[in-house]
Amino acid sequence: MYTQALTVTRQQREQLNGHAGKVIWFTGLSGSGKSTLANALEVVLHAQGRRTYLLDGDNIRQGLSKDLDFTDASRVENIRRVAEVARLMVDAGLIVMTAFISPFRAERRMARSLFAQGEFVEVFVDTPLEECARRDVKGLYAKVRRGELKNFTGIDSPYQRPEQPEVHLRAGATSPEQCVALLLQHL
Ligand SMILES: Nc1ncnc2c1ncn2[C@@H]1O[C@H](COP(=O)(O)OP(=O)(O)OP(=O)(O)O)[C@@H](O)[C@H]1O
Ligand SMILES: [Mg+2]
Repeated sequence: MYTQALTVTRQQREQLNGHAGKVIWFTGLSGSGKSTLANALEVVLHAQGRRTYLLDGDNIRQGLSKDLDFTDASRVENIRRVAEVARLMVDAGLIVMTAFISPFRAERRMARSLFAQGEFVEVFVDTPLEECARRDVKGLYAKVRRGELKNFTGIDSPYQRPEQPEVHLRAGATSPEQCVALLLQHL
């Protein structure tokens, strides 16, 4: 494999941006609050003049990953693509937020392995399954109950809880505003 040498460096791009690139990796059940919190965090960072981007699961599945379904193999491939895109964006000097269930420990570990120490901030949006099902923002839990949806995380597809996330948000009992304040302490 040949690596093409490029002249403009990541450091130069970061200097132009006025901050380092990093990735804030949100993980949690459907309805736990990943999109809500990533979005709220981006609003604050953007207002502070930081260069940001939010990769959100639902939107990525309309384009980059529209050929994938929700089997284990497709979930793994989805996360691989997102991790690689996030790596490119971090190389571009951006603060990237990712909002994907990312249910498997091995895939989160793979994503982390693409980044240097301190560049990858894993955020566990820890909301109890019952609370996620009660919110049911997209009506997916109701669909599962009617037997119209298979391979649903937390029901008939596993969610492996993070063991040592950089940030652990108990988002069932903590308001979105408090969660964002906690996140800002870690950046
Ligand atoms: N502390 C909290 N943090 C985040 N969201 C909360 C909180 N408390 C209540 N909510 C509500 O919970 C819902 C979370 O939905 P959201 O779409 O963000 O979940 P998600 O994790 O992105 O799910 P999915 O994986 O299906 O995309 C929103 O309606 C939000 O307003
Ligand atoms: Mg979401």
